[in-house]
Amino acid sequence: RTAYVNGRYVNHGEAGVHIEDRGYQFADGVYEVCEVRHGVIVDLTRHLDRLDRSLSEIRIKPPMVRAALIQVIREVLRRNRVRNGLFYLQVTRGAARRDHVFPAADTPATLVVTAKSTNPEIIAAKNANGIKAITLPDNRWERVDVKTVGLLPNVLARQQAKEAGAQEAVYIDRDGMVTEGAATNVWIVDKEGRLITRPAEPGILKGITRTTLMDVADKLGVPIVERRFSREEMLEAREVFITAATSICFPVVEIDGRTIANGHPGDVSARFRQAFFDIAE
Ligand code: PDD
Repeated sequence: RTAYVNGRYVNHGEAGVHIEDRGYQFADGVYEVCEVRHGVIVDLTRHLDRLDRSLSEIRIKPPMVRAALIQVIREVLRRNRVRNGLFYLQVTRGAARRDHVFPAADTPATLVVTAKSTNPEIIAAKNANGIKAITLPDNRWERVDVKTVGLLPNVLARQQAKEAGAQEAVYIDRDGMVTEGAATNVWIVDKEGRLITRPAEPGILKGITRTTLMDVADKLGVPIVERRFSREEMLEAREVFITAATSICFPVVEIDGRTIANGHPGDVSARFRQAFFDIAE
């Protein structure tokens, strides 16, 4: 495998950044994960728009212009022969002697791009029967709208989920309302068949898959309501599912040991999953 690190294509096994990289010391950086299907990068423009926003919110200058960045991404995918899979892109504030304040303005940002192949059929089969989730108090900082590499709360939440035999942790805010998953956005379907998801104000990451799903819903004529919903409403919902670039409409059939609806994946999430696959064909 090949990775891109600061201007070089290097063997993945030997790729590295400096020990004083600010990503390593302070989690001072942002990232994107983007899906590739049949050789096509899914929602690339939206991902790069969000990257620009994340960079600007934490005041890191983009490491290169967009056209050049796209070339790097395509080259990493090509060198790794990725037809189906994903790329991971990370930008940090660069390497400098450890100091909380920003380094000198001429310190170059660190850019890393990696890619890997995945098997969509295996992933679909693994999640076809639905996944289990747990709920946890949302203990993250207030700027989760920025896709920062500072993911320790998310790491601990996912690990806790795993140890409980679940695949995702769903965060609940102080008012008892669902925010999002540790690495996904959360959706419910109400009794009238409407899709409900939390508004993309600070409090959640505005998922690209979330935005695209809204486009798909428009086309399918499925009404969407952006509003907050509680843990209780989620447990009573007709369907619950999660979305991310790496998890397109995974149905959730059990939360905190309680069965959702009849315990089987619902029609709405299945319809959307199919629609996503059709778009990518
Ligand atoms: N996670 N919310 C959080 C906290 C996330 O980390 C992610 C994505 C999402 C969904 O965003 P999108 O639809 O743009 O993938 C929501 C990525 C996949 C990750 O950390 O691996």
